[in-house]
Order: sequence, then structure tokens, then C-alpha cells
Amino acid sequence: MELQTGSHDIDFHQLIEYSLNSIWIVGEEGKILYCNKACLELLKLASPEDILYKKLYAFFPSEIHAGCKERLNKVLKNQDIVELEEQKMICGDGEVIDIEVTAAPFYLKDMVLAQVIIRNITDRKRAERAEILLKERVKLASIGQIAAGIVHEVKNPLTTVKGFLQLLKESQPHPYFDTIEAELEKALEALQNLLHVSKPDLHEEPFVPIDLCKELASILFLFQEKLYKVEIEWALRDTERKVVGKRNLFLKAFFNLLKNAIEAMDEIQGKGKIKIEHYYKNGQIHIKVSDTGVGIPEDKLKLLGTPFFSTKSEGTGLGLTQVYTTIHKHGGNISVQSVVGKGTTFHVQLPVK
Ligand SMILES: Nc1ncnc2c1ncn2[C@@H]1O[C@H](COP(=O)(O)OP(=O)(O)O)[C@@H](O)[C@H]1O
Ligand SMILES: [Mg+2]
Repeated sequence: MELQTGSHDIDFHQLIEYSLNSIWIVGEEGKILYCNKACLELLKLASPEDILYKKLYAFFPSEIHAGCKERLNKVLKNQDIVELEEQKMICGDGEVIDIEVTAAPFYLKDMVLAQVIIRNITDRKRAERAEILLKERVKLASIGQIAAGIVHEVKNPLTTVKGFLQLLKESQPHPYFDTIEAELEKALEALQNLLHVSKPDLHEEPFVPIDLCKELASILFLFQEKLYKVEIEWALRDTERKVVGKRNLFLKAFFNLLKNAIEAMDEIQGKGKIKIEHYYKNGQIHIKVSDTGVGIPEDKLKLLGTPFFSTKSEGTGLGLTQVYTTIHKHGGNISVQSVVGKGTTFHVQLPVK
């Protein structure tokens, strides 16, 4: 089609060169033969030499290289179009970004090449992830509110029953009364625990600077008698950085994380390993607790943090609820990665004010 521009000729090369989308022309074996300005910007590269004649795989994570090759063949050999799809790319500085990519054949003389069009969707993906996270938090918060409501409703009558039981015990002793009382105590304690995690601010605690590295070491000390079959690896950086928050809540949260890590290795053969990392990056303190325990199946990951979700015979399912609520209350974030049979990493990010 001829472009009608009056007396001006359109420079199509300029059009491609300054296109807002990143455009590559790729040849045999994934060799990059052309890339426009947007592409250099996208990948944070200084000059075309940083990319020209390199193979496109250099800019994609290794786990998708086979897929890239297959799609490139689809274009070059079958002369077919590759539908738009979401992928990850690696920039010149090592940052991994989310992109959307499509490719189609491009004919130059007697050669078949591939035109690859890439769009940065990192911001959109980040917003999507934030929305999912927010929904999860709202869900957790509302479950917490329901739990707190139930606790109040059930605790009062139980306390009354306990009071009358004590009166009855004094006037008409019976051998079953002690058992009944002990069971009632257990129920009341369970309710009290639930109240603590669903309403962690029950006891107003001041915000104080907390030296998490020091605290982590002393929390781990509490598990001393369990650690004979666990190797501990410390990777602590930026130890001078402090988070500001409610100290007791943090102590409980990291106690709960470490307890789970140790329990995750109860059933594995041989010695397990816990790695504790601490570092500062982009205004946040990062703490990672990794174990080489049983791992968590993918379908269970989204249940983590929900009150009473537990796979342990003696578990309460309240540990992670306390962890998640505490981290979120301090404006932080927690994510988990797990491979069944290999282990689990909890990654906590806390803002430093
Ligand atoms: N490090 C971990 N490795 C494997 N599974 C874990 C780990 N941390 C938590 N989980 C899973 O999450 C569930 C909930 O944990 P939590 O809320 O602490 O309750 P509990 O420890 O009482 O079961 C656990 O029962 C377990 O299935
Ligand atoms: Mg636990």
C-alpha cells in the first residue's frame, strides 16, 4: 500500500527505528540482525553492539530457551505467526522483566527472517500481582475478624460453664470433674491463642527499632534441643539496619517461621539445613528462611496463612496466620517458594523508614 503524504516521502526505516514497541529482526539460530531504539531502552543496553549478532537466547531465562527455539522454528521454517504471549526477559543489568512478545516471518530478498515485537508489561504485571495480594489480605483480614467474633461468642459461655463447674466441684465432688475442667481449659486456651493471632494488637505495644539479626539468633537458641539434626547457615548482610515495629509480634512471627522450618525436617532422612538470610535492598530489609524439609504442594500454597490450615496432627494452623498478619501490619510483604521433597523458602520484606 502506498502511503499518501502529499509531497513528503515517508522514511519507513525511521518509523521502525523510533517505534514505541521493541522490534528485532532475527535470523537463523536466533541471531539478532537488527534491533530498534526502544529495544535498547527496554534491555538497558548502551549501543547496538551490545546486542547485534548475539543470539536472542542471551536475553531469556534458560528454562524457556527450548520454547524460544521451537517458536523461532515455527516462524523461520513453517513461516507461521507466533501468537502474542507473556514471557520474562533479562536486561543488560540482570534485571528480569515481564514482556509480551509476538513474532512473524519477514521476507528479505530470498531469506526468511523473523520480526519479533516485544512490549514491556512489567508495570501491568506488578499491578496485577499487587491486586491479587490485596485480595488475599482482605480475605485473611475478614477471616481474622470472623474468628475474633466467634472467639468472643464462645469464650463467654465457656467461662460461665467453668465457673459453675468449680462451684459444683466444691458442693458435689465427682471423679469426672477434673477431666471436664482440664478439657474446658484447653478449649479456652485455644480460643485465647486464636484471639491473639486474629487481633495481634490486643496488647498495645510501642513501635521500637529492632535488630532482627540479633533477635533471629536468640530465637533460634530456643530450639536448641531440636537442632542436633539441623545444620544452620547464616548469610547476614547489612546487619546495622533496623526495622521499626512491635518487637513481640516480630519475635513471635520469626519463632513461628523457624518452628515450621524445623518441623518440616522432622520426617526427612539425615540432617536437614536451615538457611537464614538478611540483607537490605531498595528501601527494604529482606529476610529469607529456607529449609530442606518436606516442601509444600502447589495447591496448598494459597492456603498458607488461613487460620486453622494445618497438615500436622498436633498443629494449630495459627502460626502462619500470626506471621502473615504481623508482616502485613508493618507494611511488609511475605512470599513463599516451595518444592515438594526439596524444601521451602519464606521471603519476608519489611520497609525501612
Ligand atoms: N517450612 C515449611 N515447610 C513445609 N510446610 C510448611 C512450612 N511452613 C508451613 N507449612 C505448612 O503450613 C501449615 C500451616 O502452618 P502453621 O500456620 O504454622 O500451622 P502449624 O505449624 O500449626 O500446622 C503447616 O501445617 C504445614 O503444612
Ligand atoms: Mg507452625
